[in-house]
Amino acid sequence: MSHLRAVPDAADDPRQTRSGSAAAVKVEAPGKVNLFLSVGAAGANGYHRLTTVFQAVRLIETVTARRQSVEAHGRITLDLEEPDDVVPTDATNLAVRAAALLAEATGVTEGVDLVLSKRVPVAGGMAGGSADAAATLTACNVLWGTGVEAKELEALAARLGADVPFSLVGSTAVGHGRGDRLTPLMGRGGYLWVLALAPRGLATPEVFRRFDELMAQGGDGGPAGSGGSGGGAPAQPADVPEAMTTALLTGDVTALAATLHNDLQAAAFSLRPELAEVVSVAEGAGALRAIVSGSGPTVAALVPDPVTATQVCRALKASGLVSGTLRVDAPVSGARVVG
Ligand code: C5P
Repeated sequence: MSHLRAVPDAADDPRQTRSGSAAAVKVEAPGKVNLFLSVGAAGANGYHRLTTVFQAVRLIETVTARRQSVEAHGRITLDLEEPDDVVPTDATNLAVRAAALLAEATGVTEGVDLVLSKRVPVAGGMAGGSADAAATLTACNVLWGTGVEAKELEALAARLGADVPFSLVGSTAVGHGRGDRLTPLMGRGGYLWVLALAPRGLATPEVFRRFDELMAQGGDGGPAGSGGSGGGAPAQPADVPEAMTTALLTGDVTALAATLHNDLQAAAFSLRPELAEVVSVAEGAGALRAIVSGSGPTVAALVPDPVTATQVCRALKASGLVSGTLRVDAPVSGARVVG
C-alpha cells in the first residue's frame, strides 16, 4: 500500500502524529563513479537522455536525523559536522529538500534536525549531494516511522535529482532516462579505484552545455558510437556494451578497464584542459584506465592492485595537477541505517 499522497492536507490527518521510536537515526550512503556514460539529446524537460553504468564507491556520506525539541518542532535544520563554506545549510541544500519532500509526501509535520558528515568531494562528479539526499530520505523515513517502501522512496529520490535513486540502491546498476531509471547489474568481485581530486569543482549543467556545443560543432562522443556527425547529439544514447556487462559478471578488471567510457569527458577536458594530463599521468603510473567521473572534474583511475594504487597516488601528487587523491574500493551497498 502506498503511504504517499500528492498534496499535504493540514489538519485531521492521523499520519501527522505518526512517529518512529528512535531519538536519532544514522544513515550512510555512498558516492559513485560512472563506468559508462552515453549521452543523447536533451528532452523537453531539459535533461539529456542517458545510458549510464553507476558503481557505488566506499566514499561515504553520513546523515544523522535527530528528533527535535518541542520548541523547534516542525522545522528542518541542517548542520555540517565540519563546516564548509561551499556547502549551503539552508533550504537549498539537497538534504533539506529531501526531508521536506518526504514530509510533504507523507503528511508529517514534526520536522527534523539533520547533521551531515561529508566525505565525497563537493561538485566532483561523484554524487555527494545526491548521497546526502538519499541518506536523508532513508533516515527520516525511519525516524518519522513513515514506512515508505523502497520503490516509492526511489520515485521521490528521482524528483530530487537524477543521481539520487542510485545512491539509495548502490552496488552497480544501469541508469536510463535521466539516469534515474535503474536496473541492477550482476557482478562479482571488487575493484580498486584511485580518485584524482581537482582543486575546483565543475557545475554539472555547465558540462552538459559544453557537451551540446561540442556536438553542434560535429564532435564525436567516442567509442560508444553515440557521437554526432554534426548538428547535435543523437536522439538516443548508446547501449551498455556487452563486453562491459560480461567483464562485470566475471569480475575481470582488465576487460572492464577496456570498456570504460564517458561521453562527457571531452566537454570536461574542454572546460579543464589539465584533466587530460591527469588521465595520462594516472595511466603512465600503471592505472589500467583513467576516465573523468560523471561530469567531472574528478578523474577515476582503475588500478589492478594496492601497490599500483600507491604508485598512481604518488605520481598524481608529484604532478602538481591534483588537490589530493583517494583510494576507494567498490562496489558498496546503497543507503543503509547504521545507528
Ligand atoms: O538532476 P541533477 O540536479 O543532478 O542535474 C543537474 C543538471 O545537470 C540538470 O539541471 C541539467 O542541466 C544537467 N543534466 C542533464 N541531463 C541529465 C542529468 C543532468 O542535462 N540526464
